[in-house]
Amino acid sequence: MQSEQIQLVDQAIMSRHSVRAFLSTPIEPQIIKDILAVASRAPSGTNTQPWKVYVVTGQTRDTMIRRVCEAQMALTNDPSHAEHYQETFAYYPEKWISPFIDRRRENGWGLYGLLNIQKGEKEKMAQQQLRNFQLFDAPVGLYFTVNKMMGIGSKMDISMMIQNVMIAAKARGLDTCPQAAWNHFHPIVLDVLHAPEDEELVCTVALGYADPDHIVNTFITPRESVESFTQFLD
Ligand SMILES: Cc1cc2nc3c(=O)[nH]c(=O)nc-3n(C[C@H](O)[C@H](O)[C@H](O)COP(=O)(O)O)c2cc1C
Repeated sequence: MQSEQIQLVDQAIMSRHSVRAFLSTPIEPQIIKDILAVASRAPSGTNTQPWKVYVVTGQTRDTMIRRVCEAQMALTNDPSHAEHYQETFAYYPEKWISPFIDRRRENGWGLYGLLNIQKGEKEKMAQQQLRNFQLFDAPVGLYFTVNKMMGIGSKMDISMMIQNVMIAAKARGLDTCPQAAWNHFHPIVLDVLHAPEDEELVCTVALGYADPDHIVNTFITPRESVESFTQFLD
């Protein structure tokens, strides 16, 4: 690979970060199709290509946001509703340990700090959580599903495909935010999507043009050094 190509690929990967404020500027459907076509070159175990993608815009987007925001607000007002909104798979552990909990806290407080949300400001936190279900104002929501009968491996496959989507979007001047938050509301999401019963929601991606003036988009997260997570065994 030529050094210019390396730079371009690295630049697309390095410049991706989770954007949490979008402009309402619509995206040409052909651009979304191109991104998905490129992303579908992702590998998958025995080339099963288990992913399905729902591209949600316009009225369907409005319905999705209205219904899930209503559910989230009801949940905030009465946490006992949580029993209706269980994830289909546990994304996070029940009991956290270091160093993961430390990084999680650093991430949360870093984001809240930028938004001037202090510890104990529950109303402000709830409003920020609700932003997830407004797709952070992105004009497009991508909802990724796999068939329920596929094993855990299909979640690896679709995750590789989703990363491709985010990088291919970045290369086209678009930004993204991967969102597991919607998974709690999978019965509503799948209903709005008219998805068949055998499908499971794995992840949502907000897609759009980043709002360059919003402070939340200046949030750049750190990474551990290669040495800290790698062993070279000769
Ligand atoms: C599978 C997955 C689910 C995520 N879910 C959410 C989410 O629901 N809401 C959110 O604001 N960010 C979400 N994120 C974004 C992470 O917080 C973010 O990737 C992480 O802090 C690293 O920052 P970066 O993406 O800007 O590099 C998610 C990321 C991944 C990979």
